Amino acid sequence: MACGLQIKDEESGYNKNLFCIPKHYEDDLERVFIPHGLILDRTERLARDIMQEMGSHHIVALCVLKGGYKFFADLLDHIKVLNQNSDKSVPITVDFVRMKSYCSKTDSSTEKISIIGEELSALNGKNVLVVEDIIETGRTMETLLSKLKDYKPKMVKVVSLLIKRTHQSSGYRPDYTGFEIPDKFVFGYALDYNEYFRDLNHICILKEKAREKYKI
Ligand code: HPA
Ligand code: MG
Repeated sequence: MACGLQIKDEESGYNKNLFCIPKHYEDDLERVFIPHGLILDRTERLARDIMQEMGSHHIVALCVLKGGYKFFADLLDHIKVLNQNSDKSVPITVDFVRMKSYCSKTDSSTEKISIIGEELSALNGKNVLVVEDIIETGRTMETLLSKLKDYKPKMVKVVSLLIKRTHQSSGYRPDYTGFEIPDKFVFGYALDYNEYFRDLNHICILKEKAREKYKI
């Protein structure tokens, strides 16, 4: 259970003017925090580590929507390259889940999480790789893992692109981690703020006024 590439608390990222940013977000970004190229390079290595451990049996890759979709697509592309350039290869099939978390109106401490509209019986007896964008408290993932058990998979591994160092963590750690980041809000590469910034390649930090602009 490796902790991934550690990004220190004092890391401020990069000047956004040195990168290509869509015009519609230029005024919203403070800094580029993790450039797209670095995300892809780290993802390439995660693909290799995953295939070393899981690459002898059919894998069901389970994408946690919506934030996981970019990482999922790029990770699977790297896995496909490994599959097509090696003496042994395994089929990868895909499935998708969407988690909804909400707090009870009467008790804000009881966060409830439900899996939306998916038929997961195909996971029975399979080696499942759950692909997530970010783990913060860990509670969503713990809930998902306990629900997946009902479908009796043979093995479940979790890869998360990001894990946040936060006091709110339940202590849960994924099997594979891309980057361990400080307790900051980050957006881009499918991680959203009220549905915006998914269409941004780099993982970025927003200006305070952007939070106001896209608030709902
Ligand atoms: N950004 C976007 N989505 C998130 C974050 C974040 O920093 N943490 C948990 N969900
Ligand atoms: Mg997520």
